Amino acid sequence: MTTHTDTAVAALESARRQTLALTSFDDAELLAQHSRLMSPLVWDLAHVGQQEEFWLLQTGRGSYCPVFHPRVATLYDAFEHPRATRPSLPLLSPAESRRSLADVRGRVLDLLERSPADDPLFAVGMVAQHEHQHDETMLATHNLRAGAPLLTPSPTPPGRPVARDAVLVPGGPFRLGADPAVEPWALDNELPQHEVHVPAFRIGRVPVTNAEWAQFCAAGGYEDERLWSAEGWEHRLRTDLHAPMSWRPDGTGGWVRRRFGRTEAVPPDEPVQHVSFHEAEAYARWAGARLPTEVEWEKACAWDPEPGRRRRWPWGEEPPTPERANLGGTSLGPAPVGAYPAGASAYGVEQMVGDVWEWTSSVFAPWPGFRQMLYADYSAPFFDGTYRVLRGGAWATAPDAVRPSFRNWDYPIRRQVFSGLRLAWDA
Ligand code: AVJ
Ligand code: FE
Repeated sequence: MTTHTDTAVAALESARRQTLALTSFDDAELLAQHSRLMSPLVWDLAHVGQQEEFWLLQTGRGSYCPVFHPRVATLYDAFEHPRATRPSLPLLSPAESRRSLADVRGRVLDLLERSPADDPLFAVGMVAQHEHQHDETMLATHNLRAGAPLLTPSPTPPGRPVARDAVLVPGGPFRLGADPAVEPWALDNELPQHEVHVPAFRIGRVPVTNAEWAQFCAAGGYEDERLWSAEGWEHRLRTDLHAPMSWRPDGTGGWVRRRFGRTEAVPPDEPVQHVSFHEAEAYARWAGARLPTEVEWEKACAWDPEPGRRRRWPWGEEPPTPERANLGGTSLGPAPVGAYPAGASAYGVEQMVGDVWEWTSSVFAPWPGFRQMLYADYSAPFFDGTYRVLRGGAWATAPDAVRPSFRNWDYPIRRQVFSGLRLAWDA
């Protein structure tokens, strides 16, 4: 029988395998700042260990002798030090960082051996998800890095001809958010679960593809102010946007892109990624559509109208597999649309979990009755109205770090994350 401890250890170990796979390179690669938008990899590396010690070992233990000295620990405080300033901090070396991570992990595993059998180990699940989130951040750093490739992609299933139609989700009640009895590791912003009435709407069966986005470029979408919000247009002018991040004209009317150290033709049937919320909103207007709200998105993903209850995953109760969703970070990119018929939701909507994060029209805000968790500043500082919600996880997201109720957020100008979109319409 799988115990809570087994599940927790497996989650910690899978996060650590990925962390080490993304940081087992020369010191120079780890110390360099590959983009002003990102930390040097060595900062993320030590930060996950420092946070693990803080949440699992230090909290409430007055006489504890830490692995990360308090003077060192403050270097890894994300609120104290913005990403652009992190390379100039007196950070631990890569070797010191790896040693500290291993020390902390050894102590955590010792503690877990003595945990009571009925404890769902929320704090451990939270820490494993936190490490996985930084693994995804490090993948974004690797993507932006100049120089020869360091990572090799694993294959995804092929696409299949799939209707690019709009699926009707009839109006009616829906239970929004996570049930802690089903998802004991749901984070603060996914709770409490509550009933909402969602008017009928339509949603794209699959995400918007590169070929569709190229039509938007060719049709002058980036030059047509009427398609953009005032804030979006101002940003479009100031930063001179013409296409998704890292796209370049190929000289014959098509596009190439550079990612993970490789320049390649933009694959037409892949979900578009590296677009900002502002671009996604303009595209949707051009297409005669809109972005879904995050509540619509979650209903299309998780609701099963027949029994009138939630599924744990779009396809049912079974965990993700390579046939159901593109998760876990090894593919280095989305699969083509139509690649996951076995991952369809009850309504028949495909590729909602994995492939690309999907921008929604929703501003990040708490559900009614929101309560901060142990990591009190995980969500609450970001409820100031300046962030938009993304849903579903990307190819870069670990299965332990995403659920239909999972809410990600970012500034509407950001596009170094693995962000795409799916359209919606009023019914
Ligand atoms: C949930 C992805 C927005 O990376 O800013 C990591 C996750 N919080 N460490 C982020 C997070 C603290 C967070 N996002
Ligand atoms: Fe963090």
